Amino acid sequence: SDSLRDLAARIGLRFGTAVIPTDLDTPSYAAVLADQFSVVTPGNAMKWGSVEPTQGQFDWSDADALVAFAERNGQLVRGHTLLWHNQLPDWLTTGVQNGTISAGELASLLKQHIFTEVTRYRGRIWQWDVANEFFLDANPSGIDPNNFWIANCGTEIIADAFRWAHEADPHALLFFNDYNIAGEDGTNAKSDAVYAWLRQMLAQGVPIHGVGDQGHLDTQYGFPTQMAADLQRYADLGLKVAITEADVRTFVDGPTTQVPTDHLATFAQPYEFSQMLKAALAVPECISFTCWGFCDADSWIPGFFTGQGYGTIYDVNLQPKPAFYDLQQDLRLA
Ligand code: G3I
Repeated sequence: SDSLRDLAARIGLRFGTAVIPTDLDTPSYAAVLADQFSVVTPGNAMKWGSVEPTQGQFDWSDADALVAFAERNGQLVRGHTLLWHNQLPDWLTTGVQNGTISAGELASLLKQHIFTEVTRYRGRIWQWDVANEFFLDANPSGIDPNNFWIANCGTEIIADAFRWAHEADPHALLFFNDYNIAGEDGTNAKSDAVYAWLRQMLAQGVPIHGVGDQGHLDTQYGFPTQMAADLQRYADLGLKVAITEADVRTFVDGPTTQVPTDHLATFAQPYEFSQMLKAALAVPECISFTCWGFCDADSWIPGFFTGQGYGTIYDVNLQPKPAFYDLQQDLRLA
């Protein structure tokens, strides 16, 4: 068929999207999700704050529903994410702040969290984003010393998270995931820092199997022409690579649900999506290309960047946008 997933399958690529699980009950949404995508990422459902809102009391409902949906529809799952500074449970961050959770306890709670979650889905997760967003957006870049985990537990916590995840599910591909690590920052400082760190981790035998470039682009900065080269550089370390959270936000005049008419939205948005896919296709070790949500109604962008939106490949009425057709054509010709 002409679906993104089938066209990608012909060239050995998984084409994916992040999912807002509550939408699985909306038939029109679920139909597009099943027809067009061959790998799904829970946008929020597997984050620590979602699965253990109260200490010791778990809510797996959204995560379970998405994994079951994926299995019914021949899709793989990217687990997201085990070690991140955002969307942690309030009981955890409060406990650290008021001193009732010590650094040692924090590390052992993390270990328990990783074993609980990774074991629950053992054998059913293709790629895990084990660690997410640890590097500074600065030149020079490096691991952020003020990151919640680094400040409390030290940098070794990242390697430990990979070791624990690997022990819990030895067959899952374990990813380090971050943004602006494939040329997007203009200077390549962040990419250089991530590259040096990965090389060091691999030399130490830390079980890292892949690196995910999130791929949050916008029409203001243009497409980062360094992307394919940076992805290839990671791959040359012996890693798989993936685009994990692709979207291209633009600047909308008026309600963010409105279709903008300026040339940036009409041409630059699909162009950058297309260039990003071509960068992924240029790297043989790139195994998946995932959009961070597929329709503008579900996108995180308007709630995060004032006056920006229109970042996905389907409009608010679930109609494919120009970017969809460009990606489809790129896959057809690949
Ligand atoms: O669930 C509550 C709801 O009960 C409440 O009424 C509402 C009011 O604000 O908030 C809801 O929680 C929101 C949650 O998404 C679920 O919709 C949070 O406020 C909101 O902050 C949270 O945003 C998520 C964001 O990560 C948090 O940092 C986005 O949905 C999610 O798409 C986004 O995803 C991240 C990736 O994990 C990592 N890379 C960047 C990417 C985009 O920021």
